[in-house]
Amino acid sequence: MNPTAKALQSVDWDFSNAPVATGIHAIHPYPAKFIPQIPGRLIELFHPGDGSAVLDPFCGAGTTLVEAIDRGLDAWGIDLNPIACLMARVKTTPFPFEMEPVAKRIVRQAQDNFFKRAVSVPAIPRVGYWFKPDIQLRIAALVAEINQVDTLAIREALQVALSSIIVRVSNQESNTRYAAVEKDVAAEDVFKRFEKAAAAVSRGVASGSDSLCRHLGKATVLNRDILSVTAEELPSNIGLVVTSTPYPNAYEYWLYHKYRMYWLGMNPLEVRQREIGARAHYFKKKAQDEGDFERQMGACFQLLARVMKPGAKACFVVGRSIIHGRAIDNVALLRRAAEPQGFAVEGTVERRILSTRKTFNLAHGKIERENLIVFALQQGEL
Ligand SMILES: C[S@@+](CC[C@H](N)C(=O)[O-])C[C@H]1O[C@@H](n2cnc3c(N)ncnc32)[C@H](O)[C@@H]1O
Repeated sequence: MNPTAKALQSVDWDFSNAPVATGIHAIHPYPAKFIPQIPGRLIELFHPGDGSAVLDPFCGAGTTLVEAIDRGLDAWGIDLNPIACLMARVKTTPFPFEMEPVAKRIVRQAQDNFFKRAVSVPAIPRVGYWFKPDIQLRIAALVAEINQVDTLAIREALQVALSSIIVRVSNQESNTRYAAVEKDVAAEDVFKRFEKAAAAVSRGVASGSDSLCRHLGKATVLNRDILSVTAEELPSNIGLVVTSTPYPNAYEYWLYHKYRMYWLGMNPLEVRQREIGARAHYFKKKAQDEGDFERQMGACFQLLARVMKPGAKACFVVGRSIIHGRAIDNVALLRRAAEPQGFAVEGTVERRILSTRKTFNLAHGKIERENLIVFALQQGEL
């Protein structure tokens, strides 16, 4: 057995006994986010130990980045979804002072404006279907105040707090079900919920700020479509890649964050268009299929081959998917995408996703297992 496969075998990747993520990893929900122990252990096992940076090309909520900078490494993350990038930045930005007094001031001012009727709701498609009128006004009042906060780190942390309550105060059934239902949310609670969320973000960021304040590692987040990123935009000596890819027809990150984006002035429709794997692309005329996914992953590996150090490892976590009744072997597919770009598989392992640890539940495909694949970038010419 090669050393990579041996190292993989030495870990119980189910992490059945690990505590559920708290603190910095729990400041905002994000579907299919890593349990932090996965990138944490992969970095410990496979980083070359030479101070080189870690890259996550689909960084989502930034779990890999937090785990890398906690271990004193610089980290680079790329994600298309602006809510994911907002979270990733907030989790990895040094945050030297208290946010709660600012949140309290914002709530006071927003309340004042609400009662004086000095608030207008921005033009958001179908806002009346998803939000009760008094809730709309209260969110709009908070957004207007948050936008006036000068310090970027505080403003973004407050945006994360607001974003974290949007689904709860809307008519949307849950974070992973995009259906309108009658929910028991009192409009008067919006301000209270926001203040509580801001306190939670503040505590979460403070719990992670030990390493951040010591600047053990620094993180850079690119809010981009991976297929448009060039090697020149990244460092050329990435020592380790750790990522979990989107996969075909599995999930729609843009959809479940749609109204969060609208309220924060972002455009979800642009995200939808470029989101790899989004179900919407598999149910239209000229629908995508697994061949498109293979090509997209091929382009991703091509970029990785240009920025990784020879011999460096790329760890990919991927689940199974079903396209129009056909089971897709995503491991084989990633392999086919990676090998022409100079990568070889050094080890794979299957892990169970424990039902208590699922960050989302798919009605259309119960994903109970996923695969961890470790590739190595071959040295020398292809
Ligand atoms: C499985 S999630 C990653 C979750 C991440 N490991 C975490 O811990 O939060 C896959 C990510 O791929 C992103 N994605 C989808 N299409 C993309 C594209 N074209 N460019 C960059 N990121 C994309 C999604 O927005 C999503 O955040």
